[in-house]
Amino acid sequence: MKRYKICVIKGDGIGPEIIDEAIKVLDRVSAKFGFELELSYQLMGGAAIDVFGVPLPDETLKCALESDAVLFGAIGGAKWDGLERHLRPESGLLKLRKELNAFANLRPAIVFKELVNASTLKPEVLDGVDMLVVRELTGGLYFGQPRAKEADRAYNTMVYSRSEIERIARIAFDAARMRQKRVCLVDKANVLETSELWRDVAQSVKSDYEDVSLEYMYVDNAAMQLVRNPAQFDVILTENLFGDILSDEASQICGSIGLLPSASMGGKVGIYEPIHGSAPDIAGQGVANPIATILSAGMMLRYALGESAAADAIDTAVRKIIAEGYRTKDISLFDAKEICSCAEMGSIIAQQIDAL
Ligand code: IPM
Ligand code: MG
Repeated sequence: MKRYKICVIKGDGIGPEIIDEAIKVLDRVSAKFGFELELSYQLMGGAAIDVFGVPLPDETLKCALESDAVLFGAIGGAKWDGLERHLRPESGLLKLRKELNAFANLRPAIVFKELVNASTLKPEVLDGVDMLVVRELTGGLYFGQPRAKEADRAYNTMVYSRSEIERIARIAFDAARMRQKRVCLVDKANVLETSELWRDVAQSVKSDYEDVSLEYMYVDNAAMQLVRNPAQFDVILTENLFGDILSDEASQICGSIGLLPSASMGGKVGIYEPIHGSAPDIAGQGVANPIATILSAGMMLRYALGESAAADAIDTAVRKIIAEGYRTKDISLFDAKEICSCAEMGSIIAQQIDAL
């Protein structure tokens, strides 16, 4: 029987609750599709700071590097906000992404027709929304040097090299080839030199992809277009900070930030995590939506483990239970058959997998 090693990081806030549900679902698919998952639970973020004094302990990084994939919940919380930047929970995640060379963050945003009512946009603009945000994840303002906060002045640096842009652009074009063959590079080329380089590189990569179209859009316009006509987008290729912002916006178009999964890949080991944060305001109440994390576990099966039948089963089960009307609180605005807790939602999806 095939056996895979998974480094599981629950993190902070709602992280533990949503990861527990993803594990419930993974247990079910592994039994059904005949493979074994060896889970190693590790600390990162605030939970690691409380125990080890650092947000990414060596042991966690070592486990991640020795695993087939990392499944991650969420990190952060008010308790650790006052710490020096390099000791904050978020620094742990950023370091993990960098150490694993997880430069390509794939964030699919699809509107399920049954959830049209959960979106804050009008139903008529939601028809056919199916986009993929390809976010560069290990460069840009998040990592650029120099950076500093002085008494009366602070600065960050946006730096991108040709090779950093080229490798993420290829991922976007490859992904577009398997979709509607349209890449939209979102940038701020009317103001930023880095964006000019992004355009140069994307244009030269495009010459290897005659079948894929490339269009450019300024990020302010893209933020507006996303709510004006979200169905116009296929693949959005963009740098780290713009991708962070636009993917949160895209999630609300789909109904809730609790729905969107992600895969962060590029190196030997990828990180699979929901796009949302640790939501300290609702942590421990059992109301979090585990679907984003469960779908992230599905992406892990597909991309890291090659278990595509099991990944398909997760996607199908989620679609079915949504069609049947099961809703967590965040997506229950109008048409809930019953409002499920986080744990109930995980169990319903797991049972649905058995029933497929
Ligand atoms: C995300 C999150 C992170 C990011 C934070 C927690 C550092 O917002 O994954 O989108 O900004 O990348
Ligand atoms: Mg974010």
